Amino acid sequence: MKVSGRRSPWRKKVGLPIVLISSLLFFLAGFYGSLLLFRDPASNGAPRSRFMEVADVGETDPVAMSHGETGEDHSSSIPFQILSWKPRAVYYPKFATAEQCQSIIGIAKAKLKPSTLALRKGETEENTKGIRTSSGTFLSAYEDPTETLNYIEERIARATMIPRDHGEAFNILRYEIGQKYASHYDSFNPSEYGPQKSQRVASFLLYLSDVEEGGETMFPFENGSNMDISYDYQQCIGLKVKPRQGDGLLFYSLLTNGTIDPTSLHGSCPVIKGEKWVATKWLRDKNADLN
Ligand SMILES: *[C@@H]1O[C@H](CO)[C@@H](O)[C@H](O)[C@H]1NC(C)=O
Ligand SMILES: *[C@@H]1O[C@H](CO)[C@@H](O)[C@H](O)[C@H]1NC(C)=O
Repeated sequence: MKVSGRRSPWRKKVGLPIVLISSLLFFLAGFYGSLLLFRDPASNGAPRSRFMEVADVGETDPVAMSHGETGEDHSSSIPFQILSWKPRAVYYPKFATAEQCQSIIGIAKAKLKPSTLALRKGETEENTKGIRTSSGTFLSAYEDPTETLNYIEERIARATMIPRDHGEAFNILRYEIGQKYASHYDSFNPSEYGPQKSQRVASFLLYLSDVEEGGETMFPFENGSNMDISYDYQQCIGLKVKPRQGDGLLFYSLLTNGTIDPTSLHGSCPVIKGEKWVATKWLRDKNADLN
């Protein structure tokens, strides 16, 4: 059947005022209808607790759309600020509360060990000393009895729309004065690391502490800058993101066509004053348990 360029007859026959009035009626019906739906009779008109759970992720839309099996019965908002398109980097202010951050630090503290590196051909622990000097530990959401990590993981999945089972366990890191992570890629180039069962698509960093000075996450190649000079991977240049407790940073390591984004190179500047705590979640293109 040929699709013609004619405007739909529906629009022609029904005048604009009628469309406006009926839209308004539908809106009001939906608005008051949903208010009634979400009243819990047992709690004397107060919103249900289920409603309360989502209240902290933003304003709840009373005119919720019908949704699928795996959908949600409300709209919500997670504020974000685009920091860059090259690489695709997004900032989520107040992604977690100070109490949640403290709780995660408390659990991780007892388990800290010196951070390790995935080694390329020819690299050893000895000759890569100094590249990554933080301490860290891996924590899965189920290991956190306070369910804070469960909440954060769920929230990351909702913000990114990458299913939870694509995430590796949280890597909780502590950087003390002078500690850093020289610039690197989170994705694994098969030509350097050998064939990969799955690839890291994106990384979500949750800053668990403020840092008095230093400790920025840096993207030296942001918008293609510094790529033509001989960058030594230790220098702290380019776009720098200052850690703020409770804020989240998401960036993509892969371009939309699946190749590694050269501008996703990043590192952690040395901490100059204070201490930096961060929870990292690497998100993969396949279920992370397959690794
Ligand atoms: C960003 O990159 C584009 C393309 O290379 C360039 O035209 C533009 O001037 C750059 N912007 C800045 C602020 O460097
Ligand atoms: C993917 O996209 C980038 C940027 O547009 C391009 O340079 C690269 O060649 C593409 N890779 C493939 C395999 O298509």
